[in-house]
Amino acid sequence: MGPPLLQLFALSAAVLTGVTHGALHFETAQLEARHFAAFDAASFAKGPDPVQAACREFPGSEDWPSDTDWQRLNTTLNGALLKPLPPAAACYVGANYDAAKCRYLINNATTNHFYLDDPVTVLTQWTQGGTCLPALNATGICLQGGFPVYVVNATTVMHVQAAVNFARNKNIRLIIKNTGHDFGGRSVGAGSLSVWTHHLKSFEHMPRFSLGSYSGPAAHYGSGLETWELFNNMARYNITVVGAGGRTVGANGGWFASGGHGNLASFYGLAADQALEIHAVTADGKFVVANEEENTDLFFALRGGGGSTYGVVTSVIVKTYRPINLTTSTLSIACRPPANTNMRAPLAPISNTTHLVNSTELFWQALHIYFRFKRTVVDAGGVDWDYLYPLGNGSYSFRVRTTFPNTTTDQATRLLEPLYTAFTRAGLNITLDRAELRPAPYAGTLTPTPPATPLANTRYRSRLLPRAGWASDAAFNKTFAALRTAVQDGGYTLHGLAIGPTAEVAGWPGRGAAVNPAWREAVLHACLMTEQTGGLTAAAAKTEEARVQGYMKVIREASPGAGSYMNEGDPGEPEWQQAFYGANYRRLLEVKRARDPWGVFWAATTVGSEAWEVRTADGYPRSQNGRLCRVVK
Ligand SMILES: Cc1cc2nc3c(=O)[nH]c(=O)nc-3n(C[C@H](O)[C@H](O)[C@H](O)COP(=O)(O)OP(=O)(O)OC[C@H]3O[C@@H](n4cnc5c(N)ncnc54)[C@H](O)[C@@H]3O)c2cc1C
Ligand SMILES: *[C@@H]1O[C@H](CO)[C@@H](O)[C@H](O)[C@H]1NC(C)=O
Ligand SMILES: *[C@@H]1O[C@H](CO)[C@@H](O)[C@H](O)[C@H]1NC(C)=O
Ligand SMILES: *[C@@H]1O[C@H](CO)[C@@H](O)[C@H](O)[C@H]1NC(C)=O
Ligand SMILES: *[C@@H]1O[C@H](CO)[C@@H](O)[C@H](O)[C@H]1NC(C)=O
Ligand SMILES: *[C@@H]1O[C@H](CO)[C@@H](O)[C@H](O)[C@H]1NC(C)=O
Ligand SMILES: *[C@@H]1O[C@H](CO)[C@@H](O)[C@H](O)[C@H]1NC(C)=O
Ligand SMILES: *[C@@H]1O[C@H](CO)[C@@H](O)[C@H](O)[C@H]1NC(C)=O
Ligand SMILES: *[C@@H]1O[C@H](CO)[C@@H](O)[C@H](O)[C@H]1NC(C)=O
Ligand SMILES: *[C@@H]1O[C@H](CO)[C@@H](O)[C@H](O)[C@H]1NC(C)=O
Ligand SMILES: *[C@@H]1O[C@H](CO)[C@@H](O)[C@H](O)[C@H]1NC(C)=O
Ligand SMILES: *[C@@H]1O[C@H](CO)[C@@H](O)[C@H](O)[C@H]1NC(C)=O
Ligand SMILES: *[C@@H]1O[C@H](CO)[C@@H](O)[C@H](O)[C@H]1NC(C)=O
Repeated sequence: MGPPLLQLFALSAAVLTGVTHGALHFETAQLEARHFAAFDAASFAKGPDPVQAACREFPGSEDWPSDTDWQRLNTTLNGALLKPLPPAAACYVGANYDAAKCRYLINNATTNHFYLDDPVTVLTQWTQGGTCLPALNATGICLQGGFPVYVVNATTVMHVQAAVNFARNKNIRLIIKNTGHDFGGRSVGAGSLSVWTHHLKSFEHMPRFSLGSYSGPAAHYGSGLETWELFNNMARYNITVVGAGGRTVGANGGWFASGGHGNLASFYGLAADQALEIHAVTADGKFVVANEEENTDLFFALRGGGGSTYGVVTSVIVKTYRPINLTTSTLSIACRPPANTNMRAPLAPISNTTHLVNSTELFWQALHIYFRFKRTVVDAGGVDWDYLYPLGNGSYSFRVRTTFPNTTTDQATRLLEPLYTAFTRAGLNITLDRAELRPAPYAGTLTPTPPATPLANTRYRSRLLPRAGWASDAAFNKTFAALRTAVQDGGYTLHGLAIGPTAEVAGWPGRGAAVNPAWREAVLHACLMTEQTGGLTAAAAKTEEARVQGYMKVIREASPGAGSYMNEGDPGEPEWQQAFYGANYRRLLEVKRARDPWGVFWAATTVGSEAWEVRTADGYPRSQNGRLCRVVK
């Protein structure tokens, strides 16, 4: 166990009296004794939980708070408590039926910010149980399922503190939802109270900032900021901040907490590597500041050790850099494309710039050459982002976007030359379109559209393939053969990202973060992707799990000792402690036990989560549509 609780309380009390490097405006309103004087359920932790209930309370359970209790919580929160239905409730016969609203959901909501402003919806729905899917004239009934029962629409730190205290004191499952992008069901939970961080959006630019061993420019932003908003701030202040690739992903939140990759990852490191200070509400309800000098255990854990585990992060102070350009090159190769390739895909598989090769073997030869080149990409500070689609009958399509920061057209041409030389040498007529290589600013004025929509049920299984797999021809052939098998025999789409956030690139203090050590060795974040619908039966889902694990096993065997990126990983990853956290797991578990002895924060495959399980009615693997109970040993 870590430091005694009393000592923790003393530390956080010091923070309350103002040892911060500046709070954002929404952080100045904090929970005080007067707020809970007449409502003990919102008071700070008085010590470790003596009860250790077998399960969290659940609607209908004996000690589920009364309506009066919830109303009093709402009063403490100045009215910020919501009891939202799933938006698609409008599509189902009954009191909430609203044909116009349902039509809007289906025709319009997926093309704007609607779902991101909804307090409960998440983009990947199968973990919720698919209990209220939007459909015109839906049949059946709409149930809350894995969505939370109550939501705190947090706009101050006080709101977050009161929610955490109430959940802990009343034995309620607590979840945190930011954007709801998580692929593993970590922002839903049946019978829960949700802390919704979406509206904690401030951004402050600090041209001169000093803290510990860092002195230089920085930015301070809230946990609700989205990537597109971060980019707009970069353009506004003429700075660079490390951001995500997906523009509606949270710029702090879960992306940041598990590492967070983007176009600058091989150049400046991951998101978590940028943090100089993190502000959070811990499980005892206190608002704390973590940096190189104070609450160093949390400072370590919150930078890569996972979201929804040690506290609710309210803001982060990160390094900023001078403006930077990216030079991007795309390459598209296909073989024997069927006439109709009109598939829903993030990168259109076939276009007029696609290089068509004549045989399946030539196609795989071209891919072998490109995948071998990935290590050169990351060593040059670049990243790439590709999709390899099996189209059936020996037909395939591949498209990649390769990005180099701070690189002129001439430099980029030279970097890419060995690739195209290798194509020519293999007799492949694949040439570089040099006209395409124009440097463009990384910052920019972005809009949130088109966001991912809740219709996406993308299921990731992935592996951070290490440098060792590129060390020799034989090693690379083994790496590549494993990927080829999954695509060719398994029929899976391969989403491959060359990313190399080495310890050297991470710099200080990034090097000392809890980021999965597998990231430091990585050349390729290789993801097998499927779409899993809410309609799959539990038995069918289990069969599919077993099938994909067969192919993942081959990939794991080709990358011994490596790991996986939780944010784009499998919530059913076997031996996830090693895969998602590596050698950091033991230390992170100590931080978790010391900071959250109550187990207030819980989400699938987070540190310490093996102590609890979700008990579902149908046994659907990894579903969050059930009551959270302690694992009985
Ligand atoms: C369209 C799309 C694009 C993506 N692009 C990228 C990409 O470019 N790079 C990349 O690395 N990943 C990417 N991802 C994956 C992404 O990192 C994960 O989905 C991540 O969980 C999103 O975090 P969030 O805060 O936005 O979402 P949420 O689902 O709201 O939260 C994710 C997890 O973090 C926890 N959490 C959120 N906020 C806080 C907080 N303030 N304090 C504590 N815990 C918190 C939640 O409880 C949950 O467990 C993408 C995902 C999608 C759907
Ligand atoms: C909380 O209070 C506000 C303001 O009075 C009210 O609008 C809201 O409906 C209340 N929430 C719940 C869950 O009752
Ligand atoms: C919704 O989309 C339809 C079809 O694109 C369009 O005609 C309609 O005006 C849109 N409605 C709203 C409210 O945006
Ligand atoms: C839904 O019901 C309405 C009214 O009954 C009908 O006009 C419409 O065609 C139905 N839509 C679908 C998709 O079934
Ligand atoms: C949440 O709070 C914000 C800020 O006060 C407000 O704009 C928004 O409408 C609220 N959302 C819901 C669903 O009540
Ligand atoms: C942006 O910053 C760079 C260097 O930090 C500087 O050279 C450039 O003039 C600035 N541009 C604007 C428009 O201020
Ligand atoms: C980025 O590229 C543009 C045009 O290609 C150029 O004008 C600008 O100076 C470059 N900016 C940086 C920071 O290199
Ligand atoms: C390819 O298609 C794009 C958009 O459809 C078009 O702008 C471009 O001119 C085309 N290029 C060639 C070489 O035909
Ligand atoms: C592919 O086949 C076509 C037609 O058979 C031929 O003209 C072309 O040279 C071949 N290309 C390659 C790269 O083999
Ligand atoms: C594969 O080829 C067979 C026989 O030509 C055809 O019937 C089938 O539709 C093809 N499948 C796909 C996915 O193109
Ligand atoms: C970008 O490239 C220029 C020219 O090669 C170099 O002077 C500068 O240090 C580079 N910037 C960074 C941040 O690496
Ligand atoms: C090589 O490809 C280009 C277009 O990408 C085409 O114009 C040319 O004819 C091809 N050459 C051979 C030998 O196939
Ligand atoms: C690796 O694979 C390539 C392409 O298939 C082949 O040419 C080469 O001989 C293989 N090398 C080894 C050491 O297996």
